[in-house]
Amino acid sequence: MDVVIRNANLPDGQLGVDVAIEHGRIVAVGSQLPLQAAQEIDAGGDLLTAPFVDAHFHMDATLSYGLPRVNASGTLLEGIALWGELKPHLTQQALIDRALQYCDWAVARGLLAIRSHVDICDDRLLAVEALLEVKRLVAPYLDVQLVAFPQDGVLRAPNALINLKRAIAMGVDVVGGIPHFERTMAEGAESVRILCEYAADQGLMVDMHCDESDDPMSRHIETLAYQSNRLGLHGRVTGSHLTSMHSMDNYYVSKLLPLMREAGVAAVANPLINITLQGRHDTYPKRRGMTRVPELLAAGIPVAFGHDCAMDPWYSLGSGDMLEVAHMGLHVAQMTGQDAMRECFRAVTSTPAAILGLQGYGVAPGCHADLVLLDAADPVEAIRLRAARRMVMRRGQIIAESPCAHARLALPGRPGQVNFRLGR
Ligand code: FE2
Repeated sequence: MDVVIRNANLPDGQLGVDVAIEHGRIVAVGSQLPLQAAQEIDAGGDLLTAPFVDAHFHMDATLSYGLPRVNASGTLLEGIALWGELKPHLTQQALIDRALQYCDWAVARGLLAIRSHVDICDDRLLAVEALLEVKRLVAPYLDVQLVAFPQDGVLRAPNALINLKRAIAMGVDVVGGIPHFERTMAEGAESVRILCEYAADQGLMVDMHCDESDDPMSRHIETLAYQSNRLGLHGRVTGSHLTSMHSMDNYYVSKLLPLMREAGVAAVANPLINITLQGRHDTYPKRRGMTRVPELLAAGIPVAFGHDCAMDPWYSLGSGDMLEVAHMGLHVAQMTGQDAMRECFRAVTSTPAAILGLQGYGVAPGCHADLVLLDAADPVEAIRLRAARRMVMRRGQIIAESPCAHARLALPGRPGQVNFRLGR
């Protein structure tokens, strides 16, 4: 064996197991494996998980905070205006540099797979070229999946459909869309039809920004489910944001959820962004704006949590920490039950891995030895502490390490340090 990790807890509840690794793959998982290895790592009863996965991000805008100015109001509308001001000044090298820096942060956070939307409305396709280069550069340590995203509307923006097809021909992986941003409801529905037919024809996955609105009548998710079903795209289609579902009539949702389930459509909520950008036209009470996560899950629909933005025109915070995303999602969706809290951990690990179609993902024999050792005993403690990533491993090689969290105390008659872990 190349590596054996001893005495690890796994996200599925297995305690104190050993994980053996050879040639970049997991070859055995079990208690007290009688094996010799070149390298032994003592997990000390901490949580060992497959890497974090972000199902929804915008890597072309990330870390552009302050360019050309900051979003003073912190609103969606000023963010959109800012992105418009920034676009003419973007250079390919600056895009690459910022995205690579974000990928460094991601690796340090144990985030080793990201589905990123890339705006294709600029005829130069500068961002597409830049992110394809980033995808190539980071491939040894991080999986990037790109979505051709017509930010200004595939029907509303001139050349957007042509540009989207050019981007796919250049190597972008997934067909995007933004039906609620088209000029009318009818054009939104038409955009869903056109894009789904194109994806079906090309054998591609679909991931649309869908109903990112507080308008309860924004019902493009219904059309997305209908087209997925009609075209046989089951398991290949994702609706991102779906925030209007928060405001929809309960009776309508009771019809919608089974339609989504029948069509095999997955959902991505973006808790950090949805809670800050939605409900801005409300006085009080103010709506939360995140989609109905527990109800989608109860209907058998996979739900992942995405980071969406980090230090860009729309969001001034964020650092690639999917545990921060899970923490916010848990609170906003009131997913405080024991199973629900563990589901929030799955929403940033195994669920998005399945949505992206990642191969060899997991902590089981045959999977890639892509692993993260957390300074926490279980998924709930990991979320509570946004636990330090003691070790991040890719294909059996350690690519990042962080110290465990602790603070030194100088108090009479009290311990000399605390680490915020119960019973340790
Ligand atoms: Fe987004």
